[in-house]
Amino acid sequence: MKILITAGPTREFIDPIRFISNRSTGKMGFAIADAARQRGHGVTLIAGPVTLPTPTGVTRIDVVSARDMLAAVTEHLPRHDVLIMSAAVADWRPAQTATAKLKKEAMSATLQLEPNPDILKTIAPLKGSRLFVGFAAETGDPRAEAQRKLQAKGLDLIVANDVTQPGAGFAVDTNRVQFLTATQCTALPLMSKHDVGLALITTLENLYTSQNP
Ligand code: PMT
Repeated sequence: MKILITAGPTREFIDPIRFISNRSTGKMGFAIADAARQRGHGVTLIAGPVTLPTPTGVTRIDVVSARDMLAAVTEHLPRHDVLIMSAAVADWRPAQTATAKLKKEAMSATLQLEPNPDILKTIAPLKGSRLFVGFAAETGDPRAEAQRKLQAKGLDLIVANDVTQPGAGFAVDTNRVQFLTATQCTALPLMSKHDVGLALITTLENLYTSQNP
């Protein structure tokens, strides 16, 4: 399979110094990329601003903002069979980005925001027979919200993580996830992000084979 993976946060700049972002380090997406490559798949990794080395044999494209990520996904998707959106995309961006550093006195206490495009929803018309996988980072039992996102974003599978669990979610080398499809929910134990990646790739290989006999 040819697999397109997004990883890390996006940054939405207020001025050249300040931005809105989140806690994603890219570890989850990079681990999936490494696992997929290890299994012999072709991998393109679209990475937000992170400090991780590129896994061996993986083609990497660096982006900054949600709109950059959307443009890169739209450009590269046609050459891939599977899309895995593990990136934590910022849902909002400042309505205006100043070209020079804003002086404290010139700033208002209220930041005007506007919504970023939802990447998965925007590219839904390009899906065709491709497998689309999303992630859901939730605080508390993630199943209901993950199921809602699975339907709303037209996904084949969603990986749900409760980021309040010890050893799960942002910035750690392990994760505790559940794989949800329209009909099944599989809870995995706490494991390394690399092993989560291997388990996800095995599940996708089976799905892909069942859809492309
Ligand atoms: O990077 P790490 O430090 O290793 O942390 C891993 C992780 C916690 C970031 C990862 O496991 C994870 O859960 N990623 C998804 C985080 C998230 O915030 O998801 P969401 O619930 O906001 O979005 C749901 C899905 O829609 C995701 O697949 C997301 O990539 C996608 N999305 C979100 C917003 C947007 N504007 N466009 C999108 O396509």
